[in-house]
Amino acid sequence: MKFFADTADTADIRDLAATGLLDGVTTNPSLIHKAGRDFLEVVAEICEIVEGPVSAEVVALDFEGMMREAEIVRKIADNVAVKVPLTIDGLKACKALTDDGTMVNVTLCFSANQALLAAKAGATFISPFVGRHDDIGYPGMDLIADIRTIYDNYAFDTEILVASVRNPIHVLEAAKIGADVMTAPPSVIRQLVKHPLTDNGIAAFMADWAKTGQKIG
Ligand code: E4P
Repeated sequence: MKFFADTADTADIRDLAATGLLDGVTTNPSLIHKAGRDFLEVVAEICEIVEGPVSAEVVALDFEGMMREAEIVRKIADNVAVKVPLTIDGLKACKALTDDGTMVNVTLCFSANQALLAAKAGATFISPFVGRHDDIGYPGMDLIADIRTIYDNYAFDTEILVASVRNPIHVLEAAKIGADVMTAPPSVIRQLVKHPLTDNGIAAFMADWAKTGQKIG
C-alpha cells in the first residue's frame, strides 16, 4: 500500500520523505489555510520534495472554472494530480483531464456508487473519507471494502486512496482490505512506528550495553 502524507506542511513532508516511506502528498483547501502559504507556491515546493503524485484541489464548482484552474495547477509540475469534487461537473472535469493525460484525484467520496462513477469517468484516484464516515456513526471501512469489490469486479484501474485517516487502525484495516493508497496526517504515519515493546527493548539493551563499559568506534 502506498503512503501519502495529508498535509501542506513542507517541513513535515521533508522529514517523512527522508524515511523513504512517502509515495505522495495530498492537500486540500483547509490544509492550505492551515499552512498559511500561497497555494501555487506551496504545491510547487511539495512537488520538488516528493516524486510521487501531489494532489492540488481546484475550488471552482463549475466545469469551465475547474478546467481553468486545473490548467494553472497542472502546469506546476508533472507530478501534480488535480483534485476535483465528486459532482457531475467534477466528473466531467475528471474525464477531460484524464483524457488529456493529467492525473485526477476525485475527492469527497462517501458512497460506493460515487466511487463507481469516478472510475467510469477515468479517475486516477478515488478518495473515500473514512474518518468523516466514522464521525457520523457509519463504519468508513465498509465503504473501502465495497469499493475494492466493485473495482475488482470490473478491473478498474482507478486507485482507492483511503482518505480522512485518523489513526493506526484505519491504516491496518485499509491494508487488510487491499486499498491501493492511504493518506494520513504525518502524526498518524509517525504513530505507526511506535510500539511499547520496541521502546522497552531499546531501554533494556541500552542498560545492558552501558554495563559492558564498551564504545563502538
Ligand atoms: C483527503 O485528501 C483529505 O485531504 C483528507 O484526508 C480529509 O481528512 P479529514 O476528514 O481528517 O479532514
